[in-house]
Amino acid sequence: MKKLIALVLVLVMALSLVACGGTAGTADSGVKTYKVGVAIYQYNDNFMTLYRQEIEAYFKTLETDTVKYNITMVDSKNDMAEQTNQIDTFITQGMDVIILNLVQTSSAEVLIDKVVAANIPLILINREPLGETDESYPGIINNPGVCYVGADARQSGTYQGEIVLALDNKGDINGDGVVKYVMVVGDPENPDAQYRTEFSIKALTDAGVKVEKLVENVGNWDQAKGNEIVDAALAQYGADIEVVFCNNDGMALGAAAAIEKHGRKVGEDIYLLGVDALTECQEMVKAGTMTGTVLNDHIGQSHAAVDAAVAALKGEALQNYYWVDYVKVTK
Ligand code: GAL
Repeated sequence: MKKLIALVLVLVMALSLVACGGTAGTADSGVKTYKVGVAIYQYNDNFMTLYRQEIEAYFKTLETDTVKYNITMVDSKNDMAEQTNQIDTFITQGMDVIILNLVQTSSAEVLIDKVVAANIPLILINREPLGETDESYPGIINNPGVCYVGADARQSGTYQGEIVLALDNKGDINGDGVVKYVMVVGDPENPDAQYRTEFSIKALTDAGVKVEKLVENVGNWDQAKGNEIVDAALAQYGADIEVVFCNNDGMALGAAAAIEKHGRKVGEDIYLLGVDALTECQEMVKAGTMTGTVLNDHIGQSHAAVDAAVAALKGEALQNYYWVDYVKVTK
């Protein structure tokens, strides 16, 4: 009897080994299991939370009886050293593909080199590494196994400016011929922040509107910081402030609270713009407590990223860039 139990145990163990052994896209027991490593710059970010949840959900929908995706997703905690370790670990673990939301785009080259040397396809998302000309990044265009999936941040900035231009007074509430504004900047190392800051204002000045910047401050995409910055700006400049541009909706939510605290009314004596179109902000646009936002399509972007990863797993060639459009959101 003991011998029989031992034999059964050995058999069970052997079978389970076979079942778990779906390494690196091998087809043991007819099931291919791909190992996918995903590093997100920081979990504590409204927009990237929606994005990362959709990556997991969408991978699930692509699974079949014979193809599985074993996803290891990690929080890089906005720490570049931590993220570098995580990528080293992904390489040691033999990931079949890596999806990477960089903490710092200035570290893109180092990480691309590591992953390319390990022969692992790499899908960069959300934080676009910029080359000298801003048009294309050598690490992306010269490596067939590397691509970037994102939205052109210039477009989101331009859309913010165009939303203001479409207002009857073009943002000039007091009619003095100059639009006085506050700019709440995301992470200044991040091209999304740089481009939104630049192109929102460029849309106005290109249309011949005179502008004056009263305050520009870094809020690192964070709601509480957005609140602090706009609270301080309103305390200092009061009624002079006509438009508050926030590089994202998270900070705009903080700004909205400050605007309310100072007894100002969006749409009447001040305008407020964000980017992302978080559900909460779409509601505010409808209610008139936010002037407008720009849809940062996390569904389109996460699906494009996963589709690129799956294409790479199948050995298909990747494009250098996959672009997803922004969409203006107004009442
Ligand atoms: C932007 C987004 C921000 C923040 C940032 C992180 O595209 O608008 O809210 O999530 O990405 O890199």
